[in-house]
This record gives sequence, structure tokens and C-alpha cells, in this order.
Amino acid sequence: MGTRNNFIKGLPKAELHLHIEGSLEPEQMMMFAERNSIELPYKSADEIRAAYEFSNLQEFLDIYYLGMSVLLKRQDFYDLTFAYLQRAHADNCCHVEIFFDPQGHTGRGVEFADVVEGISVALADAEKEFDMSSRLIMCFLRHLSEEDAFTTLEQAEPFLDKIHGVGLDSSEVGHPPSKFRKVFAQSRAKGLKIVAHAGEEGPPEYVWEALDLLKIDRLDHGNRSMEDEELVKRLAAERMTLTVCPLSNLKLCLVDDLKEHPLRKMLQAGLKATVNSDDPSYFGGYINDNYIQTAEALDLTQGELAELARNSFTGAFVDRIRRAELLRSLDKYVSGQDGEDFARWPR
Ligand code: HPA
Ligand code: ZN
Repeated sequence: MGTRNNFIKGLPKAELHLHIEGSLEPEQMMMFAERNSIELPYKSADEIRAAYEFSNLQEFLDIYYLGMSVLLKRQDFYDLTFAYLQRAHADNCCHVEIFFDPQGHTGRGVEFADVVEGISVALADAEKEFDMSSRLIMCFLRHLSEEDAFTTLEQAEPFLDKIHGVGLDSSEVGHPPSKFRKVFAQSRAKGLKIVAHAGEEGPPEYVWEALDLLKIDRLDHGNRSMEDEELVKRLAAERMTLTVCPLSNLKLCLVDDLKEHPLRKMLQAGLKATVNSDDPSYFGGYINDNYIQTAEALDLTQGELAELARNSFTGAFVDRIRRAELLRSLDKYVSGQDGEDFARWPR
């Protein structure tokens, strides 16, 4: 429906769950491979795209780690990040929080500094050019050891002015949050914000662990929390933000159809759900595609869409002043005071 799609396109919003390596488009992958003389098992961007059929998280991760192997130099990380930020800006994202996977790069001999500096300079340029604020969150790969995560935290030490938080991603089942309790405690002691992927494929118990052992400030995915009534109550009572990624959930077969996506049920249960793209190049859409396709499938109302955008600002790791600014822009937009006037679509 045109009116709803236009409302979504202009809606000021924040993206809180985006793996920068997952924004690597097939065309970019070919370009970086050529630039860095890296041999790929694909001959064309179309061939790469054709390989993006996943039946679970691991099938995706195998291709995701292969894809990121074309990133070698500081300039590669800059180019990748700036391209994503331009797309996010076109989707009316005013604030982004970007994950990166340092171990996916340092494990191949790339310098930690090149990764962080390349990404950070792009973030600074987007702030100047688009007035877009941002945060950078370093993820530990959970299929690796806690000792490895500690080494990564040490490598990050000189760059902690550029890194706002730590997260936990990669293969979830068999690698519960409890495996990383100590490294998250140390991260917290350094003043870093804490997030973790939990309840994507893993059971509700992993979400409990993320809350009680890692002491998360925000929950990534969290879909399977819906299986546990007590857990839903706890998340609602704590006003915990969930970074939900509908197209990711569809591509990784967590849901068979977006019509079955739990997003509305989450809002109705009082959860602070947000909409995000996760790995947009691999999952078939950037943030507005996620909003538009989910709104279509669930017939989301203008009120629900505004609530999702509001949750993205209240859940962002920004200071009071920036949060007030972001919320004011949303209020102005929704009330039509910024000159936009939306007919309500039929319900
Ligand atoms: N889940 C876990 N790890 C990831 C993901 C995800 O959706 N994307 C990139 N790494
Ligand atoms: Zn993710």
C-alpha cells in the first residue's frame, strides 16, 4: 500500500542490529576480490547471489565468513562501511549501531587497527555528511574460545574510544552465553555496553543466561523468548530492547512466512521490539525493506510502525540530548508538523 510504504520511507529510525560484513554486496565482493587478488569460488555476482539459499544459521555463516575474506585493507573497511551508511541514510536512518567481527579478520592476518580505523573514519564522515550519529560494537565469535575473546578484548584496548560496546554472535546452539561470562564481566568493568545474540536458534535458557550472567543492556534477536512466559514478563518489566530482524528470520527459516513473524505479538506483550536488517546483502533487504515487508505481511498500523521507530531511539546507546533530538524528529514526523501529511491507510 503506497501510503504505508511512504510513511515507512520517511519515518526517522535507528538501525541497532547490522553486521557490517553482512552488508557486503556480491558486486562489492567481486570488486574487492579483484583489487586484493583473492580467488573466489564464484565467477560473477549473479553466481554469488544464487548461493544465498540457507536452511539454518550455520549454512549462512559458512558463506558469510567466506565472503568477508575479500576484505584486507583499511580502505576496504572504509568503502564497505561508507556504502552501507549511504544506504541507511537513503532509508532515513538517523542513527546506526554497527557490529563488526574482528576475529573474522585478525584470524586471516588483517590488523585490528585497519578494521577499526577504516570503519570509524567512515562513521565520522557520515556524521559530517548526513548528520547521522553512530556507535560501533565489537562482537566475539561464540564458536571460538573465551580465551580467544580475551585476546580480542586486549587488542581492542587502544581503540576503546571508538568502540562503545561488545556483543556475541556466530553459531549459537552449543555455545551458550555462560561460556563467555568472564570476558563480558571484564568488558563491563571497562565501561563497555553489553549486547548478545540469544534466542535466535538457541533456547529461552540462553536468553536467561544473557540477562543473568552477561547482564546485557540489549538483546539481539530474542525470538525464542516468546516460548517462555516468565521470560517475556521479565523482558517487559526490564524494558529490554530487542533487535528483531524479520528478513533474516525468514531467510534462516526461523519462520516459514513473514505472516507468522512474532513481531506484533512481541509489541502486544509489552516488549520493546525494533526492526533491523542483520546482514542485508545476504538476507534480501535493508532496513526499510524489513519494515515494508513485515508491515505488509502483518498489516502493521501507523501506530505500531511509529512504536517500532520509537523503540529504536529509546534502545539506542546515545546520550540524553541526542535521544531527545531523535525522539523529537519522530514526534514531529508522526504528528505531521514537519510538513508531511499521511492519510491513514484503511484498516
Ligand atoms: N546470527 C549470528 N551470528 C551472526 C549473524 C546472525 O544473524 N549475522 C552475522 N553473524
Ligand atoms: Zn545478527
